[in-house]
Amino acid sequence: MQHFLVRVLRQDEPGRPNYWDEFRVEHESDMNVISALQKIAETPVTSQGRDVSPVVWECNCLEEVCGSCTMLINGRVRQACSALVDNLLGDQPEAIELRPMTKFPVVRDLMVDRARIFASLEKVKAWVPVDNYHDMGPGPRQSQEQQEAAYKYSQCMSCGCCLEACPQFLKIELKIEPGETQEQFHARQREAADRSFVGAHAIAQVDLFNMNPIGAMMAGERLDALTAEGGIQLCGNAQNCVKVCPKGLPLTTAIARGGRAATIHSLKSLFDR
Ligand code: SF4
Ligand code: SF4
Ligand code: FES
Repeated sequence: MQHFLVRVLRQDEPGRPNYWDEFRVEHESDMNVISALQKIAETPVTSQGRDVSPVVWECNCLEEVCGSCTMLINGRVRQACSALVDNLLGDQPEAIELRPMTKFPVVRDLMVDRARIFASLEKVKAWVPVDNYHDMGPGPRQSQEQQEAAYKYSQCMSCGCCLEACPQFLKIELKIEPGETQEQFHARQREAADRSFVGAHAIAQVDLFNMNPIGAMMAGERLDALTAEGGIQLCGNAQNCVKVCPKGLPLTTAIARGGRAATIHSLKSLFDR
């Protein structure tokens, strides 16, 4: 095979209608989807010979660690850097279809705004608190079992695959109101995101930081966030998330453990009043 086709669902800016462009790309061995996009960027001419603007996408690590290149490739949410062209062409001969994720606002073409993923992590306080940064000696010891359980969760790269697949994580579709400033619009978007489902990735990070001996000091605050509006109670247990997580995080285990911990925490808070 000397050439293959790449169809890209494009959008020029947020809120604008989308449209398809098709490109004919020269085949090379060991190409991934990012290298196909780089070839398109070198010569942005469609297969019909029309000059167009280069396709916009996001990438960073190129080794499935940062999550920024996540998109729908032949209908499946995954990372463009680890999607090999030859494997994809085996699925669907001579054409690869690229679309942006559907649950996040499109910035341009294949690039989406994933800020909501990080806002959820902020909401559930997905960090270990520190008082200062001087050397305070070794921290509390963790057993081998605790380390292994934590390691699985620590591989989350905030890619958004679990959110794209989740029927409870809905796209927020707000329009800028007449006379509203960008700041006011973003504040309204942030408020709507805060009320909506936090998602499986955030639930897993609550488990990760609550099992850390120092992180556990904020366990109650995390569980409060997890049971607030948009919390774990919205999970319908469809388990789509665990099927698409590229890092194989045990998301259903995290959801079950989070649900149990949240119930115990709520009951305790009731009796402590
Ligand atoms: S199990 Fe919960 S978080 Fe996972 S896809 Fe289903 S509703 Fe979403
Ligand atoms: S839990 Fe998995 S699918 Fe979800 S953001 Fe983390 S790495 Fe991606
Ligand atoms: S570029 Fe980082 S995951 Fe693909």
